Amino acid sequence: MSLLIAGNWKMNGLGNQLEDIRAVAECADANPIVDVLMCVPSTLISRAVQSSAGRIAIGGEDCAPDAAGAFTGDISAEMLKDAGASVVLAGHSERRRKYHETDVMVGAKVTAASRAGLGAIICVGETKDQHARGDALSVCAEQIAGSLPQNLEPCSGSAIAYEPLWAIGSGQTPRLDEIAKTLRHIRGCLRTQIGEQEGAMRILYGGSITPDNARGILELPEVGGLLIGGASLRSRDLSAIIRVADEIAGQRSTGLCKAATCEIEQLAAERLVAPSSGLAFDPVARFANGWVSRNVEVGPFSWDDPPIYEGPIQLFRDAAAQAGFSDSELERSLGPVPQFIAHSFSEAAARWLGAEHLRRLEAKAASL
Ligand code: PGA
Repeated sequence: MSLLIAGNWKMNGLGNQLEDIRAVAECADANPIVDVLMCVPSTLISRAVQSSAGRIAIGGEDCAPDAAGAFTGDISAEMLKDAGASVVLAGHSERRRKYHETDVMVGAKVTAASRAGLGAIICVGETKDQHARGDALSVCAEQIAGSLPQNLEPCSGSAIAYEPLWAIGSGQTPRLDEIAKTLRHIRGCLRTQIGEQEGAMRILYGGSITPDNARGILELPEVGGLLIGGASLRSRDLSAIIRVADEIAGQRSTGLCKAATCEIEQLAAERLVAPSSGLAFDPVARFANGWVSRNVEVGPFSWDDPPIYEGPIQLFRDAAAQAGFSDSELERSLGPVPQFIAHSFSEAAARWLGAEHLRRLEAKAASL
């Protein structure tokens, strides 16, 4: 999964600020490896979707637990989805504090998001006093246990945002080692709570992010992205952060692809020694499948897609030929494998072959 840069406009934004959404969408377009999401007031969601023309995701900032009914003034997850949102924030500290939202209420909102097919970004974090007492880890653990439904199957875009209350809007941030430690702890809590599904959720950091401090935080391997309040209102600042994130995401995916290539090569080589049946390549398929589902969105591709993954596919063709499989047999029995490989390499390939190429691949995937 790539890095996510998520803006949170809070109760800010009128129609005349949609220009900023357009500017951010253009920046996202030019930096295609990083994922960009703008959480905006409900009144702006459908217009923001139009302004960004599908180039970034648009999210809501809160939702009611019920789908519909006598709740004057509330907005349901279904309504957000209907307006074009794909994600919603849940349990932002301003809602927990100012509107007395408890973990149980946050959990009900997360359930509502999942019912409506929205990803939920669940915010957790400790107060200044709790931080001073050294309680950050236990506070986050408690909030995760209380606000994540047990059998949650996270929709795409779901994440935990670690936002220490004392860092929000204050210009202060925790030390990098503190962020890394807390995020590792949160990952462990997630695993306990929802098992293997945790792999589908990013963990973001939020609180006083600026173009100056974004790089250091994004370089922490534990960090899956940022949730940004104040700086997201200034498209120039947000764009600077998106550019940094894209660069770091590119470095990460290149590293991952290199590791994946080695593993695939090794597995293919192992199979060459004892190819005995049509299932000979199964371990490779399993590996590629698992790797891709952990790291990138999976979509169908055909054998004949552009030469972006010629290397890995050729590896399979050669291995198969030596093992006595014909091309057509390989395609019949291993159809999904090149698809997985194609996708797993598409992020790094964007670095190598240019952003335009990736856009074409993604457009093709979307149209299939
Ligand atoms: P901030 O807000 O970036 O202005 O500190 C973050 C948030 O509230 O999500």
